Amino acid sequence: MSATTGSFSIDSTTVEMPVKTGSIGPAVVDIGKLYAKTGMFTYDPGFTSTASCESEITYIDGDEGVLLYRGYPIAQIAEGGDFLETCYLLLYGELPTPTQKRDFDYRITRHTMIHEQMARFFQGFRRDAHPMAVMVASVGALSAFYHDSTDISDPRQRMIASMRLIAKMPTLAAMAYKYTIGQPFVYPKNDLDYASNFLRMCFAVPTEEFKVRPTLSRALDKIFILHADHEQNASTSTVRLAGSSGANPFACIAAGVACLWGPAHGGANEAALKMLTEIGSVDNIPKFIARAKDKNDPFRLMGFGHRVYKNYDPRAKIMQETCHEVLNELGVKDDPLLAVAIELERIALSDPYFIEKKLYPNIDFYSGITLKAMGFPVSMFTVLFAVARTSGWIAQWKEMIEDPGQKIGRPRQLYTGAPLRDYVPLDKR
Ligand code: CMC
Repeated sequence: MSATTGSFSIDSTTVEMPVKTGSIGPAVVDIGKLYAKTGMFTYDPGFTSTASCESEITYIDGDEGVLLYRGYPIAQIAEGGDFLETCYLLLYGELPTPTQKRDFDYRITRHTMIHEQMARFFQGFRRDAHPMAVMVASVGALSAFYHDSTDISDPRQRMIASMRLIAKMPTLAAMAYKYTIGQPFVYPKNDLDYASNFLRMCFAVPTEEFKVRPTLSRALDKIFILHADHEQNASTSTVRLAGSSGANPFACIAAGVACLWGPAHGGANEAALKMLTEIGSVDNIPKFIARAKDKNDPFRLMGFGHRVYKNYDPRAKIMQETCHEVLNELGVKDDPLLAVAIELERIALSDPYFIEKKLYPNIDFYSGITLKAMGFPVSMFTVLFAVARTSGWIAQWKEMIEDPGQKIGRPRQLYTGAPLRDYVPLDKR
């Protein structure tokens, strides 16, 4: 990072501020001393022009449609790597050597089991609980079961907590699913790769042999890679903010899961599939496009648009290919939802409204169709996103904790409430 200074004027006062330049991407004005110098705060609700931290993990160029993990393009990682390699890369900053990879895979697979008492914790949920509700609670509850990895000042405990979270998220996610459908929990199987193990924990039953289909586990592994990290999005910022107070990593990741649940973020794949189902047939598309363009109608095309990408989401292209691979493998020839999706994408990409506003399909547009074809119910879509994003959350949390300059995140505000006034006793009101 290099720094120069820049100056700007507010009223008649000229203020000089450091301008910091990263390795690629826009420079930032360091406004840390602005309040001391001018008595003013900056105001940026939604953080559209605010860099909240320095990070070496993920880079996005939204105008060009570029996504890099530690400098490597997402397409190359998805093509050549696997999810655990991606986790290693995000956590440690470099691709693992074959020995490091073997060792990392071994360590992750040895942490996949959940404390047996947690099975009883699950029994407290209603049968019809949304699996994301179960995830928020059970991920937070890990801190009650793994006390020996909650001291964030100990690097060894931080690393064990990171391993545990990456390893146990699929087990918790599968348990959340099994619980809601009334089937027995399936224990992890350590000779399977990460995605295959997850598929088995979700879809195996004790009464039958379960064979993992390599095309499906490879597709799921790709979905995990594509969702692993996305720099300072809402849930990652939530994890960082929660972690900045010194909260333990299990609690911080639970906060991330809660934030991811919203339909504008991780819940969008669920919302996109519901929307495709609601559209139902290609003939209905113009009606829905008209609604999306109508300022007086709150309806939006789910799976379109992104705060950062003002170009094709690079993950969406890979997701589209993966979607076709999965449908071919499963022999789904004429999926009506896919037909609606393809036509909707075609129309939206040629419609001036969407072109002007740079609204392109995002990753969630195709991930829902793929996951549905694999047999996951809609309510599990965001859960799968959470399983994958845990790797990014924990890498970002670790980076923050290991930054010597780290301090508690504490934004300020523009106060618009009542000015100072005297309290009126109850009998005088
Ligand atoms: N359909 C129709 N119009 C849209 C859409 C859409 N999906 N998205 C944005 N617009 C319009 C919006 O009405 C606004 O128009 P105007 O300027 O005339 O008021 C303009 O585009 C800018 O929208 P915005 O809400 O200011 O943009 P934002 O950057 O705050 O929102 C977004 C980004 C992702 C929340 C939004 O595009 C959206 O709601 N998309 C649908 C939900 C979705 O697919 N979310 C998944 C995001 S990717 C997964 C992830 O990374 O978590």
